[in-house]
Amino acid sequence: MKITAAITGVGSYVPDYVLTNQELEKMVDTTDEWITTRTGIKERRILKGEDQGTSVMGIKAVQQLLAKTGTQPEEIDLLICSTTTPDLVFPATANIISAAVGTTKAFSFDMQAACSGFLFALATGSQYIQTGTYKKVVVVGADKMSAIVDYTDRANCIIFGDGAGAVLLEPSTEGYGLQDQVLCSDGRGEQYLYQKAGGSRRPPSAETVANREHYVYQEGATVFKFAVTNMANVAAQVMERNHLTNDDVAWLVPHQANKRIIDATAHRMGVGPEKVMLNIQRYGNTTNATIPLCLADYEQQLRQGDNLILAAFGGGFTWGSIYLKWAYDPKPDPITV
Ligand code: UT7
Repeated sequence: MKITAAITGVGSYVPDYVLTNQELEKMVDTTDEWITTRTGIKERRILKGEDQGTSVMGIKAVQQLLAKTGTQPEEIDLLICSTTTPDLVFPATANIISAAVGTTKAFSFDMQAACSGFLFALATGSQYIQTGTYKKVVVVGADKMSAIVDYTDRANCIIFGDGAGAVLLEPSTEGYGLQDQVLCSDGRGEQYLYQKAGGSRRPPSAETVANREHYVYQEGATVFKFAVTNMANVAAQVMERNHLTNDDVAWLVPHQANKRIIDATAHRMGVGPEKVMLNIQRYGNTTNATIPLCLADYEQQLRQGDNLILAAFGGGFTWGSIYLKWAYDPKPDPITV
């Protein structure tokens, strides 16, 4: 019998601190009007405090996921964390999360594919389920973008926010879960969106710090152009090769980088705005967390059998789309009932 990898639960966490457009107006030369019309963002969450890394949010998202699904930490076989802002260069943030939540039988590793990371990690985790190797895989997407955002750079500081989301993957023999994927990378995009220093090519030094090289560098307009074309094309490609019309698609789950990129993708797919998951106005671009945060926010509206098209574009360049069949109807939340 064919085994597919189904998402059987979702957890999420965003920090309490809300950074509004109005507050950004006081920090850089910008306006709420410019940010809203150019990006769709109204506010974003920021993780404050000393020694608070991405894992802090990943831990909370996984703890919520385990509680909601009634899963014991020792049952988890594998935990993958996709992040662009790991707590440390090494060891992996996935290991830090694993230790804190007590997934003592799991092996764990990080995945780095910038804003497409969650899709790459979801596809990777699914392979372990589909092959029958493992029964329970946790995939976390988490980023503390505020750690690498220059709050004097008005083109970039308005976009990004912090957050984490996590899903549980389990085997399905009824055909739910991941159906198809198209994942792409093109290293020629490196120069348009990257962090100049802090890695092995340019280790941290007084000079790299003085030159502000430890922040996100982005040529926004160029990235925008590539994102619009590639994210829309890959989502349309996944639909076409699975013979899905816009009527068959229940939800588009797009990476939340810019509302205009999301609108272009939906338009290319022929999907109306009522089918597009959108929370960019509240969280901004949380990089690896955008897609699981959407799934968490819309979980109560999802029905068993719904066809979801996930799509992302990010630094690298990386981009991709995943077609999945939702596995469950809304269930009462054991945390709040
Ligand atoms: O998630 C991973 C991938 N990343 C993305 O998908 C992001 C893609 N890029 C974007 O979303 C957009 O390019 C941005 C939101 C980053 C920028 O928007 P844009 O419409 O492409 O603006 P731009 O960079 O072409 O700049 C247009 C003008 C410039 O002024 P001049 O040179 O025309 O006078 C900028 O200086 O807008 C100015 N500008 C701003 N003005 C007010 C840039 N940022 C701001 C700002 N407030 N915050």
